[in-house]
Amino acid sequence: MRIGIIGAGSMAAALGGGWAHVGHELLIGARSARSARDLADTINAGSEPRHRVGAATIAEAIDFAEVVLLAVPVAALTELLDDHSERLADRVVIDCTNAFQPDESAPDGATAFVLGEPAVAERIASRATRARVVKAFNLLAAEVWAGEDRVFDGVRLAVPFCGDDETAMRIVADLAEDLALQPFPAGGLHRARYLEATAVFTVGLWFDGLDARAAIPPLTAAFAVAD
Ligand SMILES: NC(=O)c1ccc[n+]([C@@H]2O[C@H](COP(=O)([O-])OP(=O)(O)OC[C@H]3O[C@@H](n4cnc5c(N)ncnc54)[C@H](OP(=O)(O)O)[C@@H]3O)[C@@H](O)[C@H]2O)c1
Repeated sequence: MRIGIIGAGSMAAALGGGWAHVGHELLIGARSARSARDLADTINAGSEPRHRVGAATIAEAIDFAEVVLLAVPVAALTELLDDHSERLADRVVIDCTNAFQPDESAPDGATAFVLGEPAVAERIASRATRARVVKAFNLLAAEVWAGEDRVFDGVRLAVPFCGDDETAMRIVADLAEDLALQPFPAGGLHRARYLEATAVFTVGLWFDGLDARAAIPPLTAAFAVAD
């Protein structure tokens, strides 16, 4: 697929690098031509892409794309959508953003976060009304997506994702599988806010040194009695 990556930071590198490696065509669009070019060069040098990754403006990357990954801070979205919401029409738009903000009520020295807004993906969809928005890849750190470990305790790492467009959901599922991940369709875009809340809650546990995974039993034990 033709994938336009908006942003040239950690998530752009992690997901873009993986997709380029398995043969997708990528164009990196960033506000700085230099950082778009640097990331394209890094992926070309490291991911052995079948198609050379290009660098462009944000507008050019969206125009090129069937799928757009929004890999920018939430604070950048208002301006981005003001400038490009029409251009995003018909694209599958993957929103991997997290509206994390420091939790001012956390004790001194503790690092905890809260959400700066409750439903980013819904905001994107309400602004870019003809885009096919899917929330995905926001739960885990870029380093995990970029890494090679995919199976933990015998379970393949999953990507829950939410969206309203069936075709877009299938495309995102395929893109997850391309990264050797297990796609978990998790309902309509109105549920994306739960993914956003899960991210901030889980990361808070991890920052406190608590293994979030221990709080969630396997499916066979989820209701105490096997079906
Ligand atoms: N990193 C993670 O582990 C992780 C995990 C899950 C979700 N996320 C989410 O993914 C998104 C991207 O995170 P990241 O870690 O990749 O961030 P990052 O490494 O800081 O990169 C952010 C990118 O967005 C660009 N950007 C910043 N402000 C912009 C603006 N106003 N207009 C256009 N572009 C702008 C930056 O450009 P400049 O270089 O010019 O500043 C940079 O290319 C965030 O919403 C984050 O919450 C991150």
